[in-house]
Amino acid sequence: MSTAARAAALREQLHQFGHQYHVLDAPTIPDAEYDRLFKELQALEAAYPELLTPDSPTQRVGGKPLDSFASVKHVVPMLSIRTETDTEASGAQAFDTRIRKELALTDADPLVDYVAELKFDGLAMSLRYENGVLVQAATRGDGEMGEEVTQNIRTIGQIPLRLPSDAPKVLEVRGEVYMARGDFEALNERQRARIAAGEKGEKTFVNPRNAAAGAVRQLDPTIAAQRPLSFFAYSLILPPKTQEGLGTILDNCSDGLTHHDIHTQGEALDQLREWGFPVCEHTEVVQGSAGLVAFHQKIAQLRDALPFDIDGVVYKVNDIQKQAKLGFVTREPRWAVAHKYPAQEQLTTVQAIEVQVGRTGKLTPVAKLAPVFVGGVTVTNATLHNEDEARRKDVRVGDTVVVRRAGDVIPEVVSVVLEKRLQDAHIFTMLHQCPVCGSPAVREEGEADYRCTGGLFCSAQRKQAILHFAHRRAVEIEDLGDKLVEQLVDAGVVKTLPDLYRMGFSALVTLERMAEKSANNVLASIEKSKQTTLPRFLFGLGIRHVGEATAKELARHFGKMDAIMDATVDQLLQVADVGPTVALSLRTFFDQAHNREVVEQLRACGVTWAEGEPTAGASLPLAGQTFVLTGTLPTLSRDEAKEMLEALGAKVAGSVSKKTHCVVAGAEAGSKLDKAQELGIKVLDEAGLLALVGEHTAE
Ligand code: IVH
Repeated sequence: MSTAARAAALREQLHQFGHQYHVLDAPTIPDAEYDRLFKELQALEAAYPELLTPDSPTQRVGGKPLDSFASVKHVVPMLSIRTETDTEASGAQAFDTRIRKELALTDADPLVDYVAELKFDGLAMSLRYENGVLVQAATRGDGEMGEEVTQNIRTIGQIPLRLPSDAPKVLEVRGEVYMARGDFEALNERQRARIAAGEKGEKTFVNPRNAAAGAVRQLDPTIAAQRPLSFFAYSLILPPKTQEGLGTILDNCSDGLTHHDIHTQGEALDQLREWGFPVCEHTEVVQGSAGLVAFHQKIAQLRDALPFDIDGVVYKVNDIQKQAKLGFVTREPRWAVAHKYPAQEQLTTVQAIEVQVGRTGKLTPVAKLAPVFVGGVTVTNATLHNEDEARRKDVRVGDTVVVRRAGDVIPEVVSVVLEKRLQDAHIFTMLHQCPVCGSPAVREEGEADYRCTGGLFCSAQRKQAILHFAHRRAVEIEDLGDKLVEQLVDAGVVKTLPDLYRMGFSALVTLERMAEKSANNVLASIEKSKQTTLPRFLFGLGIRHVGEATAKELARHFGKMDAIMDATVDQLLQVADVGPTVALSLRTFFDQAHNREVVEQLRACGVTWAEGEPTAGASLPLAGQTFVLTGTLPTLSRDEAKEMLEALGAKVAGSVSKKTHCVVAGAEAGSKLDKAQELGIKVLDEAGLLALVGEHTAE
């Protein structure tokens, strides 16, 4: 393909994708893919200026407004920000170096102050206030012309409708409308219920940004009001004091601000906060490139724990006069840059769809993908959850799909790029037989999953059951990994859990790639696992619906294994956290002779734990209190500290809130400690924790 043809093809594609994204709110490719194509076109146009056409997507900021909303001309154009995708150090350094050069600063001059902010993944909004009243809200549109969406924006509780009387007569506030992750999940949950109830025209949303954009562009404001939107303000535009009309301001960094005793972006944000706008707490004034790098790293750590999506951070020169001096290149200010994080969505192709068998026999369809780097790791598998989900997404072998991985969440296929579907792609159908043992697979009424009925006859379930028993949080057999379990089960050495304790050195060394030394290590870690605790043992049995917390409650309540095995459904229901499903599952498990036999044999093999007195009814000293652990303690591991606290009845939670009673902090404790101090929550170090435990154990 000639260079000119490639440029034309890119323009056409970008036009199409830009229209889907900006105008229809129905993107068909991930943002990262769009960025890549956009950059390719930019590079071509830079190398061959004769290829640049006035209608190139690189020459404008966004798409056309929808006809159905009134168009609004932005008095001050809404700019975009130049993007850096480099590593944290080089991206920040490149920006700082450029700024110092433009400002003609020498090495002898002090560090430049920057405001570091989050780059929210929502949509830009301009809010105009006249005489202290919100009169107009407009989307960015193409940067020059936006859409008037005032009615919908008024439904956002976080946006003030009226400002304090000290606010100037005319002003504009800009910021990001977004949907918090929790609100997004809840919205989709409601949408699924509507779809299930047969309501027509309802759909679920792909991601929070998409849902927020849909809500803002909702023509019926009563529907918009039901969509939970949020807002963060990030810029303030004031007319110069001498002229009260906005028309005289030419750019965003108008020194109009400085006439109102606001000389920096930091002060503008403080003023916005004071007037009642939500300004993100993760906003900092930092010095020089080192300050920017530190912020970038800190937010990278925090990203997954934030209650909303971000796609990077934004660095802005703090001083407004310096901003004015730096000015603009086309549509991008020289004084700001967006520094992105690895995308959490990418495109790849589906090479196969396999069905995997889990510990409890659950069959899960899994898409095998061409390896793709997403959310910071290389992904080759993505779950399709179950038959209904696989059918709803209609993923087929050979399809190009959008894969999403955010945080520690299991990667999932978000959607299929239908335009790229091959003609002969086969529809996926769920297996009605276990792919491993051939037993029938059944889907019970009201359940989403098919399950293999083979039980421990099924080698896949057996392998998973053994791995679960050996898990770090169960009886912990350190040297028993998934490869070894696979070999042991396939060779017929281990058929049931007690076989682990019966197999000898000779059975192990005959396995492929098993040296004498490793065989001894395995045997030693199996031996070590014999000394366990009742909750670990109970959890390790892998009873459906009995997780770690439930196992702990059961152990605490009944004290003894036999009491748990013999408890009636009614007695089980007395345990905190145990409902009918869990009670029935326990009863069903222990009603089966072969399961009781496994427990007896494990005991006979020497697996032991301390049994206690039932504490049913009695309350433990820290019952009802919530603790949070953060940082590294000098001698105790996190699990040890957790066990100590839980033994006294405390709950150990992952994040600090008003309901937290106490935070135990070690070295390098981060934001959780800050939050505890902010909320005035009691903080203990390891010595304090041990004293507290000692106090209660002595009682
Ligand atoms: S400032 C002159 N600050 O990024 C710069 N924009 O390309 C004007 N965005 O869609 C924008 N977080 O909605 C700024 N903290 C932040 C931002 C931010 C997200 C978005 C903005 C626009 C895009 C600019």
